[in-house]
Amino acid sequence: MDIAVAPDVSEFAQQHGLGSLTAATLEAIRTRRPRYSITRGMQFLRFQKRIDRELLRHRVITSNPYTAWFRRGEQNVSQLKAFIVQFSVFSNVFLLAQLHKMINAGTLEGMRASKEILANEIGVIFNLHGARSSVSAAEYDPERIGTEGTVQGGTFRFEAAHFEWLLQVAQELGLGFADIGKRRFGTAATLLFCDELVRLYGNEDYAISQAASYAVENWAAAGFWGELIEGLVRYNGRHGTSVPLGFFAWHNRLEAQHARHTQAELEELYFHGDPGEDAFIRHGNEMLEAVAAFWDGLEIERRKLEQPH
Ligand SMILES: [Fe+2]
Repeated sequence: MDIAVAPDVSEFAQQHGLGSLTAATLEAIRTRRPRYSITRGMQFLRFQKRIDRELLRHRVITSNPYTAWFRRGEQNVSQLKAFIVQFSVFSNVFLLAQLHKMINAGTLEGMRASKEILANEIGVIFNLHGARSSVSAAEYDPERIGTEGTVQGGTFRFEAAHFEWLLQVAQELGLGFADIGKRRFGTAATLLFCDELVRLYGNEDYAISQAASYAVENWAAAGFWGELIEGLVRYNGRHGTSVPLGFFAWHNRLEAQHARHTQAELEELYFHGDPGEDAFIRHGNEMLEAVAAFWDGLEIERRKLEQPH
């Protein structure tokens, strides 16, 4: 929530050393909502420091050699194809993890939040103002589709499925539907990542699933989408191709906006039910290890494809 901090809330935060909490949490503490107190606020800020130190400094968030290389746009077509194939396997299997997360949700609200993501992934276009949107053929283009709103009352289009956007990229590179998305095309590293997503992100234990979710969101907001886009723009320039950027551009826009919600979600999780600090950090790190394994796998593969004959 991006509510501006009211002057009295801001003053209250300064007085009690709670300045970095979100406005919603500060307001809850100030008005003494159940489970919210100045002491809990302080405890949360100590927990936040641990998260910053012990989770968010993971190497896959601070530096990713593969995406740093990708950004330069020096990949050959085999390297780019290999990337798209592995990314398509991850994107497709992610649906399973998301479905598990939805089924295992602890509340109706949680189930709906997971369903939003799942429905949008498979082609329901977000409806920004609760009004039924009429979507003309050109408007399921990921370059133009919005990233905000709800799937409630949104329009379903096969062509708006994220997998279909990725298929368009694959087709530009000479790959077809039969070449992408299936588990059998995944390297061991990609499959490890996919399986860990199902195990952790889709876990029956809500606390584990939330820790994995927080880790994944922080990774996704760390800027790799932008690096992929830059690389593809350069690739297109070098090769005179028009690999569509929509899939990547849409996710980049989405993440920019997600990052703003991640903090609010963490605070809500903390104040509403203690997530267990050690377990949160451990499960978050397990998830990030799997993310790192995925990019490491891509890095190894691209080195193998350095000089194709
Ligand atoms: Fe997606």
